[in-house]
Amino acid sequence: MTTSLPREDRIRRALELLRNETTDKFDDVVEFEPGEFTDPVLAQEERDHIFGVVPSIVAHSSELAKPNDFMTVTMPRNNLIVVRQKDGGVKAFVNLCRHRGALLEEKEKGRCRIFSCAYHRWSYDPNGKLRTITRDTTFGDVDRSEHGLIEVPCEERHGFIWVVDNAKATIDVASWLGGEMDAILAEYHLDDYVCAKAGGFDEPTNWKIMQDAFLDGYHIQYAHPNTAGKIIHTNVMAFEDFGRHCRFIAPRKSIDRFLEEDPGEQRLDKHVTETHFLLPNSTLLRQPDHFQLLTFRPHPSDPTRSRMEQRLIVPKVEDSGLEPARWERLWDKNWDILLAVLHSEDFPLLRESQRGMASADAGGMMLGRNEVANQVFRRETRKLLAAGRDAAQ
Ligand code: FES
Ligand SMILES: [Fe+2]
Repeated sequence: MTTSLPREDRIRRALELLRNETTDKFDDVVEFEPGEFTDPVLAQEERDHIFGVVPSIVAHSSELAKPNDFMTVTMPRNNLIVVRQKDGGVKAFVNLCRHRGALLEEKEKGRCRIFSCAYHRWSYDPNGKLRTITRDTTFGDVDRSEHGLIEVPCEERHGFIWVVDNAKATIDVASWLGGEMDAILAEYHLDDYVCAKAGGFDEPTNWKIMQDAFLDGYHIQYAHPNTAGKIIHTNVMAFEDFGRHCRFIAPRKSIDRFLEEDPGEQRLDKHVTETHFLLPNSTLLRQPDHFQLLTFRPHPSDPTRSRMEQRLIVPKVEDSGLEPARWERLWDKNWDILLAVLHSEDFPLLRESQRGMASADAGGMMLGRNEVANQVFRRETRKLLAAGRDAAQ
């Protein structure tokens, strides 16, 4: 497995793999148990030792463009409100009133000068300060500075908003990404892009089954014979392992004319899709003219449910060279195709996989040597779980 070659060289390596009808591989087949997708104790450990410890992406920066723009997010451990601040920063708070715990903000998105509780109308500033206690002469003496919203660590980096889902934790996205992945994301300048489309899907499927399916270059022609399978080659991945995160290049079928013909110096980047796995729960796809971010979150209590979010992250209209109406149509069309594939091809398969995993005698399962990114996902989540268990002892 080669690292740090220039992109065109990595693409040529993918072409070579395709010529040889092979892919990058790990040394061993790895076994796993179906209980990993149904066990409530493991699910609790995943919430605490993974999502309570490491940063994960909740949005693209453009989704909270202006001061007081907010969104609510159901994380595995907390319901959150994420709010753009007056000074341009972003903060995240537990979405709960400090009086008697009513849900503070029920809308998914909006812009708000104050958050006002529906129960007894206490209100909070966008920076989390408790502003108003209604009928405070009767309520009694309370130090307001002690009863603001509970803040959760939040950081903006590389055009994404990241949180650690734990008020007691700290956040350092650069160090979490590590040198290689931090440099890769910096080079994409995703903060100059805009999130043209975003959607969330609540599925009756464990988050790891979902995440696995979107790191998988092996299923494409079988599960998607008439859609993605016509566009991208199956089981050809020029892979790089960064220890925590990883990426691989998969050739598109449009590269096929270079199987015989030498491409010489021509750029081949429009003939590939590059997949980045950002531990713990995101796949960032670099397509020839845009990016796609897929995020998978465990349900707060049920190991057999999860939420997937999908985002199209694209050049701004003014940078695209397209008329606004054309730009709009392009991403509408792209989005509709993606949704059709998800809903009619991936989701039904994965729901049934979840059902199957609950069979009393499901037996052991395997990840092949060729399932490289899946092996990284499994290896690294297990490391986090082991570290969390050690720390808890
Ligand atoms: S619970 Fe929010 S004001 Fe009482
Ligand atoms: Fe798929």
